[in-house]
Amino acid sequence: MRRKRLYEGKAKILYEGPEPGTIVQYFKDDATAFNAQKRGTITGKGVLNNRISEYLMTHLAEMGIPTHFIRRLNMREQLVREVEIIPLEIVVRNVAAGSFAQRFKMEEGSPLPRTLIEYCYKSDELGDPLVAEEHVLAFNWASPQELDEIVALTVRVNDYLSGLFLGIGLKLVDFKLEFGRLWEGEEMRVVLADEISPDSCRLWDLQTGEKMDKDRFRRDLGGIEEAYQEVARRLGVLPETGPADAPAPQTLQ
Ligand code: TMP
Ligand code: ASP
Repeated sequence: MRRKRLYEGKAKILYEGPEPGTIVQYFKDDATAFNAQKRGTITGKGVLNNRISEYLMTHLAEMGIPTHFIRRLNMREQLVREVEIIPLEIVVRNVAAGSFAQRFKMEEGSPLPRTLIEYCYKSDELGDPLVAEEHVLAFNWASPQELDEIVALTVRVNDYLSGLFLGIGLKLVDFKLEFGRLWEGEEMRVVLADEISPDSCRLWDLQTGEKMDKDRFRRDLGGIEEAYQEVARRLGVLPETGPADAPAPQTLQ
């Protein structure tokens, strides 16, 4: 079937969906870091992120968090509602790591006085700069009401996901969310959009401290595919692939 390609990003391609108001999200194996200065491929990443994001979005929806997710279509695609993406990356930090640890010269893993929420302006050209609420409101990237809603939803997502990952022996160190405007006639709702996966989260093994996310790619730590697979396995969504895993044919007597 021919489908209209609407947008190609660094890790996903968006196609026109089968019905108006829907979009097909195709998950690629491409990985980038440091605003695409570093590029590579993580074999099987698209398949795993499709499943992991499906799992997390579905559970969040059950918790009453509105999301764009409709259903997974196949190994690499999911059907989502078409939303107008709010041009902000909402970063939640439970523990100092990554760019935050660098900015404040803190050791990675240092506790924070409390969970922090940061905003970055989504612009590849500018390298997604950190911005303040002032900028968000002054440039009208989001209205005060939308920002309140985004923060309230983000806090709930963090509480839920932190507990969920704790249950499978992973510490949710930090993560990034994106939200979109969903139009239903005259009504507009802010909903969780994009994806939630080891591309957009830092996950550390509780026992060993091992990094189980895209930092393995960013920092050339190796074992990238294995880390994504392990997250999927612990969530119970590792797809059974390969002939070795196919069920043996039944013999009829
Ligand atoms: P940072 O420490 O590099 O700012 O990243 C914070 C969190 O946000 C981390 O979990 C990874 C995620 N993230 C993205 O999903 N996309 C991005 O472009 C960046 C920079 C970070
Ligand atoms: N995804 C972002 C990029 O390429 C950065 C990152 O996740 O580290 O540029």
